[in-house]
Amino acid sequence: MIARRIATAALLLASALVTSAHAEGDAKRGETRFQECAACHKLEAGANEVGPSLHRIFSRKAGELSDFRYSPAMKRSGVGWTPETLDKYIADPQAFIPANRMPYAGLSNASDRADLIAYLQKATQ
Ligand code: HEC
Repeated sequence: MIARRIATAALLLASALVTSAHAEGDAKRGETRFQECAACHKLEAGANEVGPSLHRIFSRKAGELSDFRYSPAMKRSGVGWTPETLDKYIADPQAFIPANRMPYAGLSNASDRADLIAYLQKATQ
């Protein structure tokens, strides 16, 4: 009886761990997901392509790089990039920052976005 309770508790704990890992996103899967962004974005400092470098993006404000030509919409959006704001932007760029010029339709799957953001939190440092 006790053994069974312990087994049940262990199972509950294991599934709780799996759930929280999922909520935080899987960086390994996110790395693959990033291929979609890599067509336009590099992670190295100063490496602007079609899109601005994403180096240290989570300590930047939208439209902050002086050597990239942003849209007026991006510059005056007042957005600070956090995992939460990036999640909203990637889900639907035009809804979150109307008239910004990122030619990307959006990533509708929330768990794909969580994976991507988990990867970016590591790789943009
Ligand atoms: C086809 C090219 C393209 C793709 C694909 C693309 N982007 Fe962008 N991205 C841009 C451009 C261009 C801008 C600047 C938009 C503006 O100034 O309005 C931008 C802006 C951004 C910004 C704001 C940066 C800053 O300095 O404020 C972030 C963050 C961003 N993109 C993340 C992503 C992520 C994550 C992906 C993949 C899911 C992605 N982008 C896919 C071209 C692209």
